[in-house]
Amino acid sequence: MTTLALANTTPADAQADALVIFSGKGSGKKGAAAPIILAGTEELPKAATQHILTALSAFGATGKADEVIKLHAVPKITAATVLVAGSGAQAGEEPTLESIRRASGAAVRALNGTQRVAIVPPRLDEDTVGAVSSGACLGSYHFDQHRSAAARKDAKAPVGRVDIIVGKAGNKRLTAAAANAEVIARQQNWARDLVNLAPNELYPQSFAEAVKKRAPRGVKISVLDEAALAEGGFGGIIGVGQGSARPPRIVTMSYEPSKAKTHLALVGKGITFDSGGLCIKPGGSMVTMKCDMGGAAAVAAAVLAVAELGLPVAVTGYLCLAENMPSANAQRPGDVVTMRNGMTVEIINTDAEGRMVLGDGISLAAESGPDAIVDVATLTGAAIVALGNRTAAVMANDDELQGSLTSAAAVAGESVWPMPITEETRAGMDSVVADIKHTGEPVGGSMVAAAFLREFAKKGQEGEPISWGHIDIAGPAYNDGSAFGYTPKGGTGFSVATLVEFARGYC
Ligand code: BES
Ligand code: MN
Ligand code: ZN
Repeated sequence: MTTLALANTTPADAQADALVIFSGKGSGKKGAAAPIILAGTEELPKAATQHILTALSAFGATGKADEVIKLHAVPKITAATVLVAGSGAQAGEEPTLESIRRASGAAVRALNGTQRVAIVPPRLDEDTVGAVSSGACLGSYHFDQHRSAAARKDAKAPVGRVDIIVGKAGNKRLTAAAANAEVIARQQNWARDLVNLAPNELYPQSFAEAVKKRAPRGVKISVLDEAALAEGGFGGIIGVGQGSARPPRIVTMSYEPSKAKTHLALVGKGITFDSGGLCIKPGGSMVTMKCDMGGAAAVAAAVLAVAELGLPVAVTGYLCLAENMPSANAQRPGDVVTMRNGMTVEIINTDAEGRMVLGDGISLAAESGPDAIVDVATLTGAAIVALGNRTAAVMANDDELQGSLTSAAAVAGESVWPMPITEETRAGMDSVVADIKHTGEPVGGSMVAAAFLREFAKKGQEGEPISWGHIDIAGPAYNDGSAFGYTPKGGTGFSVATLVEFARGYC
């Protein structure tokens, strides 16, 4: 784990193996596209600045996002390496907090194998120091739990220590901003671990155990096992889990500080492996389906972060954990199940399992009468068709809540986009035999799934709606491509930061 501290030193004197400074696009005058240095310019010795600018120009650097240029033996700089991280800021523009977070992440990732790193923030306000900190913690992420001891020894270790150079400007508020960012990033990194763990090791029971083990005393954990779920009438999750040798669980995590005046419920889809069930997926589509518990991982991490930050809001997390497998016991298309809230559902496609476990989870959350319910789920391939791999869809039964979720995501630096649940969607889900089918028209698949979930965000089957929002993270939960910014390959921990920011809005 990378440790993070604020340091009262000058960039030139920083005791580190590498010094990170930020760059942005230059004016491009006279055809020269050389970037300008955004950080530390006033404080860096003139000879150093000159050397760096000449080298950047020679390299054809532009200061674009994800550009990392390593320079060695820069005059007057103690650190052996100076890394210039592109922020992507346009000429004459200040970099945004998210671009700083990303550049900080890319820099620290590029310094894997380096013990000690010092970063010069481009500005010295709390938000900027927070962004540099969170980028550094997220960028240092490294998953080696499945490597052999021999392979671990050979691998480059992540950066051991990051000093953020604030000089004499250091104060309690900057320290708190860095600490706050570190808490959220550390929990997000845990969510990434859960996603990256192989599905033969992370299954409903072991997921529940991992949550119990990590939860501090202030977060109470209770687990419904398969017997309790059957007894409690959770027909949705029982049906999904019945094909697997590893039975389902619903884990409830509650954080209830005495000063809380509001109560937020978070529900996460936790399919530890989605084979599709009898409606089996083609092999290629299954390869990354260990990520189908990314929503539950994000909810678990967000609850722990809110608790660690001591936010004055009660938060309950519901993790709906099951493995979707084909077998002689598996659920069939045509089956009818009774959900926790009493509604009967006709199964059409066993690969539409996420909404079934969430329907039960949202029903359970609704029973405690929270002020709002938000669910997070790798729910539909259609969300990827609509918004690509890096943006989540946000839907809701309440425009104001949809707005506060998207604003929270903007502050957190996570890309989300609002989508509607159009009126005609629900009619396509009428069933001949049951109260509802869990699928509908073959178009607008993300809206169909959301329209289904909306049925459960009520005080009882026929009751008043409860404010509810839904984040479909099918695209951004897992990065199948190369690392970028602070996002590694594999599990991303997407939506942890948004959920924490959203919870702040209820304080
Ligand atoms: N877990 C998948 C959705 C998914 C796809 C997540 C790709 C991440 C990447 C979900 O359970 C699923 O299979 N959805 C089906 C629904 C359909 C059968 C109505 C889909 O999107 O195809
Ligand atoms: Mn599925
Ligand atoms: Zn799924």
